[in-house]
Amino acid sequence: MNLSDSQRENLRRITEDIVDLPTLPVVVVQIMEMVDNPKTSAADLTRLISSDQSLTAKMLKLANSAFYGFPRRIGTIGLAVVVLGFDTIKNLVLSISVLEKFSRSRSGQMFDRMGFWEHSIGCGVAGRFLARKLGYRVSGEAFVAGLLHDLGKLILSQYLVEEFSQCLQIAIKDDLFIRDAEKTVLGVTHAEVGGWLAEEWNLPRQLVEAIHFHHNPARAKKDRELVALTHLADVLCRAEKVGFSGDSKGAILDPEALEIFSINGKEISEDTFVKFKDGFREELSKAAVFNSMIRR
Ligand SMILES: [Fe+2]
Ligand SMILES: [Fe+2]
Repeated sequence: MNLSDSQRENLRRITEDIVDLPTLPVVVVQIMEMVDNPKTSAADLTRLISSDQSLTAKMLKLANSAFYGFPRRIGTIGLAVVVLGFDTIKNLVLSISVLEKFSRSRSGQMFDRMGFWEHSIGCGVAGRFLARKLGYRVSGEAFVAGLLHDLGKLILSQYLVEEFSQCLQIAIKDDLFIRDAEKTVLGVTHAEVGGWLAEEWNLPRQLVEAIHFHHNPARAKKDRELVALTHLADVLCRAEKVGFSGDSKGAILDPEALEIFSINGKEISEDTFVKFKDGFREELSKAAVFNSMIRR
């Protein structure tokens, strides 16, 4: 990540206090490594996923949900691997495990945990939807980027309870974006903290960037389209009031996010973007299966 010296110092100060770093389940890490290994066969992947019963059940539930909308029933992991493909499987596994493991984490009273997860899922759905509309090649990755973009808020609400509550209070009192309140109180924002954790988890570079730069997509280097999609997904969810990101202030669309697409010949204007609202709502109605995975 390219951080300024003072940001780096603030991030180090904050993260070195987090002794029990939240980790991804071992099986998830193994699956992600397997998918990235060109020598892995469908049978290898099937065997590993099937060794985890709860993951298997959830994978099949998702694969058969309206969100994926396959014409025939997917009854086994073996079939899911073949039909969905390695990358979709990887994205599903990551999404399931994050929802499962982190939606039950405790946080300060000020933090609207349910609202946060609804916002995150909404951004995942919006990311995939916009990716398809704008011809971005891996819509599944756009889903994960949307789902994880505010990960840093989860970390702050869990590990820096006092400071983060203070950020939320200041944001309301002074009518600030949370990220600006975070800069004042902590010296870094949830975007940087989330990017740091994604790096610790060895997530793909482009996902780290999407999380890190979701407020200012033009600063991304690796995959600017994915970062711009994540920014647009966030704006769309906040405009449509899907869940609650913790920010009462209306989202501001960074025109550079639209430009990133125009450069690549996929012209999009603010008017076109607004017209996406209806389609997004329809997609969201198919995504209830994710909400059922939030631990209440
Ligand atoms: Fe954010
Ligand atoms: Fe957000």
